Amino acid sequence: MEETSLKRKVVLTCAQPTGKLHLGNYIGAVRQWVELQESCECFFGIVDMHAITMPYVPADLRKNTYMCAAQYLACGLDPDKCSLFIQSNVIGHAELNWVLACLCPLGQLERMTQFKDKSRKLSAGGDVSIGSGLLFYPVLMAADILIYNADIVPVGEDQKQHLELARDLAVKFNNFYSPTFNVPEAYIPKTGARIMSLQNPEAKMSKSDKNALGSLYMIDSPDVLRKKIMSAVTDSESSVKFSPEKKGISNLISIMGAVSGKSVAEIENEFAGKQYGDFKKAVSDAVIAKFDPIRVKYEELMRDKAYLESVLKRGAEAAQRRADRTMSKVYRKAGFVDAVRGSK
Ligand code: TYM
Repeated sequence: MEETSLKRKVVLTCAQPTGKLHLGNYIGAVRQWVELQESCECFFGIVDMHAITMPYVPADLRKNTYMCAAQYLACGLDPDKCSLFIQSNVIGHAELNWVLACLCPLGQLERMTQFKDKSRKLSAGGDVSIGSGLLFYPVLMAADILIYNADIVPVGEDQKQHLELARDLAVKFNNFYSPTFNVPEAYIPKTGARIMSLQNPEAKMSKSDKNALGSLYMIDSPDVLRKKIMSAVTDSESSVKFSPEKKGISNLISIMGAVSGKSVAEIENEFAGKQYGDFKKAVSDAVIAKFDPIRVKYEELMRDKAYLESVLKRGAEAAQRRADRTMSKVYRKAGFVDAVRGSK
């Protein structure tokens, strides 16, 4: 066997500390992380530096960071098998962001869909000025990935464009300086890569949804989960069939598939001839069976901040060791003189 095939793949992915994680985050992200930690060297970051690119309240950010860490651990991330860390705790993300920003054409950032959407929403909201951090958001994201020289980046569909930029910047750096970075591959789940709002199946499930019934949160109580699923928007037909014209019911089928492990065909067969109400009840049962043990574990972990901090410290230390290796190469190639440690 070749030496390279013996090496474990390096996985990096991150998520914003939004507080409560919704079903889209679970299906599009955390579920894969839990699987990947078994076979790969995994780094999972809570990106607090990305969180300040939009208006925010510092006390909420602090609380949300603990909440996210507790939810990831409750979902099955195991500190003995992966490194869970807070982005701002690892020196190098912001520094690599700068080096990459100097290679990144401004026009490419101005054309990013998420930048256009978010800046449009901010402007529509009134007098809030748009910070340039929002424009550089994807460059910082590229730095998050490249600093670990990741092979694989598990993300939902919505992050595809950002990942393309990270790949472009890796190639640009390698060409301009010399080969340094792996060009990372996206790992997008086949089902559930884009979970939609329960109230507006045209829009992705998101914490910023104004309609409180649109998103299912992992730490919602069973009653709340059931109420939201039972009131999900469907269509005027009643056949449980996956189709692009039936976005609401198709979204519920994706959710059912992801939490129960059944295929679309199995679900369609099982519910042939049944009403939407019966199907929604079954989806509620399946989601509650998945999320309730997670909520209970989450509540226990939130009572033990010292434990959460010890996990995050250990994760940051492992991440820092890997980040340092990359940054010393990057700085040397960039032509920066290290007068503190001296030239080697
Ligand atoms: P974030 O925090 O918005 O989302 C975290 C992960 O959840 C996925 N996701 C979804 N998947 C399916 N359906 C949905 N409705 C849904 N909503 C969110 C996202 O695709 C993501 O995988 N920019 C990133 C965070 C980030 C990052 C990185 C990711 C920063 N640096 C480096 C990967 C690598 C973000 O805001 O994700």
